[in-house]
Amino acid sequence: MLSYLHAFHAGGPADVHKHAALAALIAHMTAKDKPLTYMETHAGSALYDLAAPEAVKTGEAVQGILRLEAGRRLPAGHPYAQALAAVRAKHGKTAYPGSPLLARALLRPGDVMHLMELHPREFEALRARMRGPKTHVHRRDGFEGVLALSPPTPRRGLVLVDPSFEVKSEYDDAAAFVVELHQKWPEAVIALWYPLLPAGLHQGMCEAIEAAGLPRLSRREAVFNDPAATRGMHGDGVLVVNTPYGVADALKAAQRLCSSLLG
Ligand SMILES: C[S@@+](CC[C@H](N)C(=O)[O-])C[C@H]1O[C@@H](n2cnc3c(N)ncnc32)[C@H](O)[C@@H]1O
Repeated sequence: MLSYLHAFHAGGPADVHKHAALAALIAHMTAKDKPLTYMETHAGSALYDLAAPEAVKTGEAVQGILRLEAGRRLPAGHPYAQALAAVRAKHGKTAYPGSPLLARALLRPGDVMHLMELHPREFEALRARMRGPKTHVHRRDGFEGVLALSPPTPRRGLVLVDPSFEVKSEYDDAAAFVVELHQKWPEAVIALWYPLLPAGLHQGMCEAIEAAGLPRLSRREAVFNDPAATRGMHGDGVLVVNTPYGVADALKAAQRLCSSLLG
């Protein structure tokens, strides 16, 4: 089932949490002078227009990134702010980067990217926007594709896992994927985003990952007080495996940026 389109949710409170955490992780990992491999299981189309009818219809960006910036709560030196500025300079002031463009703004020329996207139209848009050296765009299932390419060269790396959670089985699939990926590529930093929905299915997923005993797990959740503005979600979470030493405060700050919007 591929009915989810991220254009309706780009820049919403959940994106603020996910993208601020992702930017913090990439900034931390690129501070060391060693190349890395960056992968995404569910990439989306990479570039969104916050003035487009989809974004205007849900109003999520108004509750999210636009509110954050209007309140001057995003420090100019934050890597998320830097990536936003770079993308707007190139694509216009209502542009908003999806995770692939955000990553590109922060990665270095020697880093390798592998991006998976299954939706035909989203894939074509992703491919058009992400042309470039060392950047590989794949139209294949994200879990299957990332596992098939792991462990990559260079082995130092980060994987963003960002399913749309359209079907219940994706929670179990995501947990199994994270555990299997760690077995195949033990060095990988794995960042899994998930929604907090009334059914609470994230709980079993997180518990399965925690029970697997993966190293340096961190889990931060932001709670929204206005789920009507965010498609019934009452919050979101970011779980990280192999959390790099020294990044915990930045992950906490990302969660607080999000909580400050609706919490
Ligand atoms: C939440 S969106 C991705 C948003 C993006 N990571 C970002 O932060 O900008 C999820 C994407 O996964 C795609 N998708 C759904 N099932 C997939 C699968 N099995 N493999 C790869 N991509 C899939 C959807 O088409 C959608 O574009």
